[in-house]
Amino acid sequence: MRGISKSFHGIPANQDISFSIESGEILGLLGENGAGKTTLMNILYGLYQPDAGEIRINDAPVRIHNPLESIALGIGMVHQHFMLIQNHSVLENIALSHKDTPFFFPTVKIREKLENFSASFDFNIDLTKKIWQLSAGEQQRVEIIKALLNGADLLILDEPTSVLTPQEIKELISILKEMKAKGHMVIFISHKLDEIMDICDRVLVLQKGKIAGSALTRDTDKISLARMMVGRDVVFNIQREKIDRGNQILSVEHLNVMGDKGLPVLKDISFEVFENEIFGVAGVSGNGQRELAEAVTGIRKAESGKIRINDRDITNTSPRHIYDQGVSHVPEERIRFGIAPGLFLYDNAILKQHHLKKFSKRYFLKYKDVKDHAKNLMDDFNVSAHSIHSQIRNLSGGNIQKLILGREISEKPQLLVASHPTYGLDVGATEFMRNHLLELRKTGSAVLLFSEDLEEIFELCDRIAVIFDGEFMAILDSGDRRLNDIGLMMAGSKRI
Ligand SMILES: Nc1ncnc2c1ncn2[C@@H]1O[C@H](COP(=O)(O)OP(=O)(O)OP(=O)(O)O)[C@@H](O)[C@H]1O
Ligand SMILES: [Mg+2]
Repeated sequence: MRGISKSFHGIPANQDISFSIESGEILGLLGENGAGKTTLMNILYGLYQPDAGEIRINDAPVRIHNPLESIALGIGMVHQHFMLIQNHSVLENIALSHKDTPFFFPTVKIREKLENFSASFDFNIDLTKKIWQLSAGEQQRVEIIKALLNGADLLILDEPTSVLTPQEIKELISILKEMKAKGHMVIFISHKLDEIMDICDRVLVLQKGKIAGSALTRDTDKISLARMMVGRDVVFNIQREKIDRGNQILSVEHLNVMGDKGLPVLKDISFEVFENEIFGVAGVSGNGQRELAEAVTGIRKAESGKIRINDRDITNTSPRHIYDQGVSHVPEERIRFGIAPGLFLYDNAILKQHHLKKFSKRYFLKYKDVKDHAKNLMDDFNVSAHSIHSQIRNLSGGNIQKLILGREISEKPQLLVASHPTYGLDVGATEFMRNHLLELRKTGSAVLLFSEDLEEIFELCDRIAVIFDGEFMAILDSGDRRLNDIGLMMAGSKRI
């Protein structure tokens, strides 16, 4: 790509960007939230047209008007938010996107192709399963298969690991290394510096739409990359003061919950969360975390057991009723449940809160108050967007996340249920949000935090439950020496 520039409504997202990638290379793309990474890759994939600059493949200039053309040129992309059809099977999804799927008996032909193909790459996936039955890692493998089967020489992965479990990340890395060995090229976007250092040959750093620098991973380190990205030294400064916990806010007793597949996913879970406490649930994703968050916030039915907020029974009452008891929720799948993508930023700033007195009078929204609130949220949580009138789907991934967190935190909830609050955030924003969670704790809220990131769990939590296969293996105080065994407990091989 040479001299690429792109503006939206007169505001530059990419400015004069030039870089190249060669066969067998894995290039990392790094930059703060809103730096222009996704935009640049969308241009390469033909989703956007650049205002200036050109793309060359094998030294010949090409114009890419849409993804069909980029696929024909051997470019594939796995988006930050997956684009699979949930009610179709893996095979049907692959057939739908394949460039020469026949009109008659489409899946028969594709199955043949896939069988030849899986002889050369090792994807371990059941083709007959429906997409909704797959874990995030499996869905991502489907996206990668789609791209490779279309003959991608260059694969673009936009934050591929933020939704994966550590095991799935390992599997992804081995697929990428296999691709590299076969001469494919990969562009890999991530906020996790360890991963970039581990996977990539070279890194390109964007800052506010421009190239801030590039380096071979063997000649650089995490600290220099972070400095290049932010333009200053990044020092993680998170301090959890000792605070005595207050009254009990949440109590869960003998909770049993069924999963989407009609099998029990939570088995006899009991715990409490108190004021001034962050209670962490550590575990490999898919062990019941999502169902627990959904049961507490009223999205999923409890088969048996009791859930109480401030001693009031809220078991199987409506999400709205539970919200009115002071329970906020940062959901795991934020594009599906956390926002209304087609609405404006200011509408999204009060989602679920539109019935509150401060925002509505009789049946009408008080638009001035709503908009003021949205502006304050943007300022307080560094949400970078064109204006409060932007459609939320045009915000960068990390900025959507900041808006959701800001909205839920700013309500000063009695209980915040937060699933992976720092997914997709850059290093600076991660530190900022973790400090906000500690501030909530200090001012008397209770926080139920789900995370796979052990560093995050250890940094923030007063007590930590380890979940495996729908059961708590143990509930430990921070500082408990048995925390050394947390990895074993997460794998289910130890109960204390
Ligand atoms: N379709 C669009 N319309 C208007 N503005 C857009 C559009 N797409 C991107 N932008 C703006 O361009 C800027 C760069 O966004 P981009 O999504 O490329 O960032 P990013 O580096 O991928 O960030 P993140 O790490 O948060 O995903 C942002 O300010 C965003 O709001
Ligand atoms: Mg992005």
